[in-house]
Amino acid sequence: MLLDVPDLCGATLQESANVFLLLVIKSTPLNYERREVLRKTWAKERLQNGAWIRRVFISGTAGVGEEKTELNKLMELENQENKDILQWDFTDTFINLTLKQVLFLDWMQKRCPYARFLLNGDDDVFANTDNMVEYLQSLSDNNGDKHLFVGALNLFMPVIRDSWSKYFVPVQMYKLDSFPPYCGGGGFLLSGFTAKVIYNMSHSIPLLPIDDAYMGMCLEKAGLKPTSHFGMRTLGLNIPSKMAEDAKDPCYFREIICLLLKT
Ligand SMILES: *[C@@H]1O[C@H](CO)[C@@H](O)[C@H](O)[C@H]1NC(C)=O
Ligand SMILES: *[C@@H]1O[C@H](CO)[C@@H](O)[C@H](O)[C@H]1NC(C)=O
Repeated sequence: MLLDVPDLCGATLQESANVFLLLVIKSTPLNYERREVLRKTWAKERLQNGAWIRRVFISGTAGVGEEKTELNKLMELENQENKDILQWDFTDTFINLTLKQVLFLDWMQKRCPYARFLLNGDDDVFANTDNMVEYLQSLSDNNGDKHLFVGALNLFMPVIRDSWSKYFVPVQMYKLDSFPPYCGGGGFLLSGFTAKVIYNMSHSIPLLPIDDAYMGMCLEKAGLKPTSHFGMRTLGLNIPSKMAEDAKDPCYFREIICLLLKT
């Protein structure tokens, strides 16, 4: 680990139970500007309707040689100022995202084990964290101690076998033709309980280079299911025009929990 924030969730492990929602945002060293925007907007740390929202960026390294050293120094300065970056020494690329995810879960068990809920997402999504808190508080029988995993649900996603594809998974790595149900990695919500279960399962499942599908594999092995939520929407290139029209209306964002602006 290169950068840590040991007391992110409080001075003691018990205090991490006071964190209602931990925003865990995947970001690479080069995305400094995105992090700055998120700190000032939806990922601002605050007390929302009596619930503490905390934020952390998770990152690997970028560049090689001197450039890598320079970028690491900048990250260190940024972390001195904001105390919200966890960085590990691996190259931050798409293929290594599963590694990042599992390293974070490992960190969480050591530093922030009792946080109630987590939003796991990319640094290029829009999340309505007020709505998120409202939704999570409405789950009367779940205070983070029961299963929850919601997002934009993918069912029967075929495994890509074209070696040129970004999503290529060789048959030696994964035999079946389709993945178990999983939520798109742009943004999903889970309970502290489910984070622990996934972490436990990850010990016996070899890392697969598609991070969100890997989460689905861990859930399946634990006998748990991811679910969809109307507020977790993907706005891509091929969205129906009605939805695109709606999205121009500011009121559209009222019910949104997480909007994934992905192509
Ligand atoms: C993943 O990270 C490791 C450790 O830094 C690095 O050796 C490897 O090249 C990375 N993989 C990719 C595909 O970038
Ligand atoms: C995770 O594994 C540990 C050690 O095996 C076990 O004590 C714990 O109950 C497991 N937690 C969950 C939520 O499955």
